[in-house]
Amino acid sequence: MAQIKSIGVVGAGNMGSGIAQKIAQEGIPVVMVDLKEEFVQRGLGTIRRLLQEGVERKLFKPEQVEQILGRVKGTTDFKALADVDIVIEAVFEDKQVKADLFKQLDRICAPDTILATNTSSFYVREFAEKTSRPDRFVGLHYFYHPAKNRLLEVIPHGGTSPQTIEKSLLAAKLHGKTSILVKDAPGFAVNRFFVPFLNEAARMLEEGLADIATIEEGGKRAFRIGMGPFELMNVTGIPIAVHAATTLGNELGAFYAPAALLKAQMEKKANWKIEGQPDESKLAAVVDRFQGVCLGVAAALVDEGVASIEDTDRGAKIGLRWVLGPFEIMNRIGIPKAYEVVQAICRKYPDFRMPGLLEKQHALGKPFEFSFVDLAVKDGVAWITLNRPEAMNALNEAVVAQLGRRFDEAEADPRVKAVVFQGAGKAFVAGADIRYFVDKIKAGRIPDIVAFTRKGHELLLRIEESKTPTIALLDGLSLGGGSELALACQALVATPAGSMAFPETGIGIYPGLGGMLRMARHVGPELAKYFAFTGAYLTAADLQALGIATRLVPPAEVDAAIRSLVAAGRPDKYRARATPEKFKPFAEMFAKGRVPDLLAGKVPDGVNPELAGKVLKTLGYKAPVAVRIANEIVDRQQGLPMRAAVEIELERLPDIFATADALEGLSTVGRRRPEFKGQ
Ligand SMILES: NC(=O)c1ccc[n+]([C@@H]2O[C@H](COP(=O)([O-])OP(=O)(O)OC[C@H]3O[C@@H](n4cnc5c(N)ncnc54)[C@H](O)[C@@H]3O)[C@@H](O)[C@H]2O)c1
Repeated sequence: MAQIKSIGVVGAGNMGSGIAQKIAQEGIPVVMVDLKEEFVQRGLGTIRRLLQEGVERKLFKPEQVEQILGRVKGTTDFKALADVDIVIEAVFEDKQVKADLFKQLDRICAPDTILATNTSSFYVREFAEKTSRPDRFVGLHYFYHPAKNRLLEVIPHGGTSPQTIEKSLLAAKLHGKTSILVKDAPGFAVNRFFVPFLNEAARMLEEGLADIATIEEGGKRAFRIGMGPFELMNVTGIPIAVHAATTLGNELGAFYAPAALLKAQMEKKANWKIEGQPDESKLAAVVDRFQGVCLGVAAALVDEGVASIEDTDRGAKIGLRWVLGPFEIMNRIGIPKAYEVVQAICRKYPDFRMPGLLEKQHALGKPFEFSFVDLAVKDGVAWITLNRPEAMNALNEAVVAQLGRRFDEAEADPRVKAVVFQGAGKAFVAGADIRYFVDKIKAGRIPDIVAFTRKGHELLLRIEESKTPTIALLDGLSLGGGSELALACQALVATPAGSMAFPETGIGIYPGLGGMLRMARHVGPELAKYFAFTGAYLTAADLQALGIATRLVPPAEVDAAIRSLVAAGRPDKYRARATPEKFKPFAEMFAKGRVPDLLAGKVPDGVNPELAGKVLKTLGYKAPVAVRIANEIVDRQQGLPMRAAVEIELERLPDIFATADALEGLSTVGRRRPEFKGQ
């Protein structure tokens, strides 16, 4: 895997300073260049101010601000960019300025430096052609504000090499971005439907379909967003909307061209006046119009191969903060209704045609199916990627079923010498979909939870027992079911960002996918209980010290580590090992004879009372029934073969999910601390 040591950013304006800030925040040195010292200083000042706001909001500690700023080198000397791995251009949206800049960068930068443009409205290829390195040229389109919005459109043009794409995706991941892969097409993916959304607001107003307040409210309801189109334009600038619609109109036809009223408002140099109450009687028509435009355009761009349906949805959810992506909305309102609202748009704008994709789906009469798990085979290694970063790759029925299918495909492929499981985005897998559990409990369908968990166990056992080596790449957070998936793999490669934790007892349930069982086999029942009962967080270094992580390597060495693991043959996963000093006190505290005292809220004999006091405080926040059942399960599992031990875990699921505490714990996640009653 390629390595990213430093990144350059040209332009210290709104976007450039934000991009540089985010890169530095994630620990990567960054060189930020602008034309004049005062512009550089202004950019650095913006970064400092935003970081300071972060301190006030308790996102950073004051000393972190200095460390982050220490990683940003602001300069007017372009030669400082000579040796960076990637240069991201974020200068004025002017074709000539950008073209000249890329010619200059091409001369200055080392041959292997990748050049990237953050243009919003030009083709990436136009600038790539200006350089002697079109293969090392890519579009990286950020979203405002780039230090806060996680979305990044990665845009290869026809001549971008696979190595450049790979390195760009790695750079994106390393600075905390969720990337979607998009073709070099007008508006890329997100602006292609976002700009028509803004434009359609002005058109409806122009036609007198409704007033500003009603259209504004309709826009919010159509996509469940906090700001409607007029407020969004007021905040980001009406000229930007006009400019973007003009470019799309020139490239794609009259349907995309800016409304006369939109241009007139820009000429007035005034913001939209949003006042009064929405007219409820007109809202449904407004919502239909917005959905018709956005869903139709989303289907059209997928039809043209600009992005996949999953990446288009991701773009809307992460980049625009819609609650659902366009394709998820189509499924929710139903394909017939989606077809009807898009058809109305086709009738209204003759140059907009019904996208073939929607035509086909309508004929099928079925909702869209999403792929959440990707499989790619490279140099004999099957990479299975859980690709639902907007939900931190949480496991649900569809994900587990697809994971199983992808694993089957990988195992059946004669080229495959090892299977690696990884998560897209920042997390590995953040547990299971909590909503699923809550819905099932409320519907009185706990047996469905048991059946789902049983399927999960079967898959995890197959992963653990497979003749093809299975490796978890833990390069981000994992929780609950995610940690359990990682533990089921025959080997585990962690990067320093990898972590595990079992938060279940804090939400009224117990780790039900073999987490306690496999932890006990690794580190003994005492520490398995400690981690399961307290939810204590295991860092990558802890995982290595405990012998759970087979290798701990920096991100750039992951490929090599995987190759060496495959060459070394099957590891002795549950070999006997010594307990590291750091964990000995906890192993002693959770010895079988002492646990009853802990569960009764008492300091057991023979342990450090101060440490025990802390542990008891933590246990005080956990669901007592969950901890008690977890304790019984770990005890009963000892000495049993794997499958028999799994049955014990499954056996208690109906009991735990029927408790009032499970419903309380699961339904309060992310809202408030649960109040457990011990029943
Ligand atoms: N604003 C957004 O929401 C947004 C979103 C995505 C992409 N973009 C794109 O990002 C780019 C930058 O936008 P912005 O809003 O940050 O603009 P900005 O005007 O705030 O900043 C541009 C900066 O580039 C500097 N600059 C101009 N020419 C230069 C050169 N030759 N060398 C070095 N520095 C130079 C300017 O001095 C200025 O500081 C544009 O291409 C824009 O389309 C903007």
